[in-house]
Amino acid sequence: MIVAIDGPAGAGKSTVARRLAERLGFRYLDTGAMYRALTWLAMNRGIALDRADDLARLAMEYPVTFDDQGRVWIAGTDVTASIRQARIDRQVPVVARHPPVREVMRERQRQLGAEGDVVIEGRDIGTVVAPNAEVKVYLNADVSVRARRRQEERPDIGGDALATDLRLRDESDAARMRPAAGAEQIDTTALQVDDVVDQIERLVRERQPA
Ligand code: DC
Repeated sequence: MIVAIDGPAGAGKSTVARRLAERLGFRYLDTGAMYRALTWLAMNRGIALDRADDLARLAMEYPVTFDDQGRVWIAGTDVTASIRQARIDRQVPVVARHPPVREVMRERQRQLGAEGDVVIEGRDIGTVVAPNAEVKVYLNADVSVRARRRQEERPDIGGDALATDLRLRDESDAARMRPAAGAEQIDTTALQVDDVVDQIERLVRERQPA
């Protein structure tokens, strides 16, 4: 079974998807981490981020992998921590917007999601990567709450800078940010993580074969 969890930055996707996967004993696939790792590699190698075909080639040559501990690897390097830096936050939408890059990534995401039960988190999972997912969820939250959550993850950056980053990312991610047909929409503004996980777990149990 595939559980697709989409929504904007700060809606709570990662925390919810991780905890849900743990509870259900499903694998967890973080597709944002894949775009982040590619962005890290491109910047590391000095590849201009407007070169769509060069970036797609790079993605093809260096597939992102996840190890048993959930660490993120690309080109033989553990980038788990590096991909959470503010410089990556700012540049990843530039990389993720190129159609040839998305083609490579989506294909890889389908392969990684093909075996067994999995929770996949991203922006376009229910709409494009796995439109046949048994459970589709779209998480959202008020922009002020999303900015606060980001701030808790990035204590080193000022609140104003983070709010601006979030707004810019929302704008550039907007084309991909829409709920899939049949997605359950959950507003997480006033909810605790476990309440959201409970709701999605119920949907999964309903759709799981007896
Ligand atoms: O969820 P995140 O913040 O780690 O995502 C990083 C960036 O990658 C974000 O700008 C949106 C983009 N992304 C995407 O375009 N499609 C996905 N399936 C996942 C992430």
